[in-house]
Amino acid sequence: MIVIGARRKLSELERFLGEKLNPIYKAHYAVWVYWWPWWRKLFSGRRILKKWGEIKLVQEGQTFLDYGCGVGSFTIPAAQGVGAKGKVYALDCFPRQLEIVEQKSKQEGLTNIETILSTGDTGLASESIDVIWMCDVLHEISARRVVMEELHRILKQKGTLVVHDSMGEKVLSYTDGLFSLIDRDDKLLRFTKQS
Ligand SMILES: C[S@@+](CC[C@H](N)C(=O)[O-])C[C@H]1O[C@@H](n2cnc3c(N)ncnc32)[C@H](O)[C@@H]1O
Repeated sequence: MIVIGARRKLSELERFLGEKLNPIYKAHYAVWVYWWPWWRKLFSGRRILKKWGEIKLVQEGQTFLDYGCGVGSFTIPAAQGVGAKGKVYALDCFPRQLEIVEQKSKQEGLTNIETILSTGDTGLASESIDVIWMCDVLHEISARRVVMEELHRILKQKGTLVVHDSMGEKVLSYTDGLFSLIDRDDKLLRFTKQS
């Protein structure tokens, strides 16, 4: 038993070190876990949250998907906005991001956040989401059209998709036939669902 336990401990350690020493992991970690949240907090995040207020994006009781949530810079305000009767799904393909979202959620005393580890499939029921928020993630996705089709499936008929991305007009080539543009403010594009 002791030997098995020790071996398991060793292989966990090897996996841990292998992951931490992997240069791709380190670069990803440094950018998304350390640098990006500060950028969000000090600069772009405030402007974006102000815009949320202007368009009344988040309302009590909504179901909200933060697709590519990162460390939760928008997940937490969304969860506070939808309140206890609402629900926020925080999806990301990077497990460490989701761990941080879960830690922040606990610190804030929020019980309405559920994390989803995925690169595309949400596992959510069809037409179950009021708002889908995608901030600075679309350009990172390779199967953009496939992801858009999945988002179309889960969005309620009168739901809203908001994409914030530096791709500009190009975003429209991935939403074509699925979502209709309501308005655009610089990098922020707001859509309704096409039936
Ligand atoms: C630039 S960060 C933005 C994070 C957050 N939305 C924000 O604005 O603060 C992009 C995030 O998208 C995630 N991501 C990239 N490709 C993804 C995919 N195919 N599916 C889900 N998440 C993805 C990354 O792991 C990263 O956390």
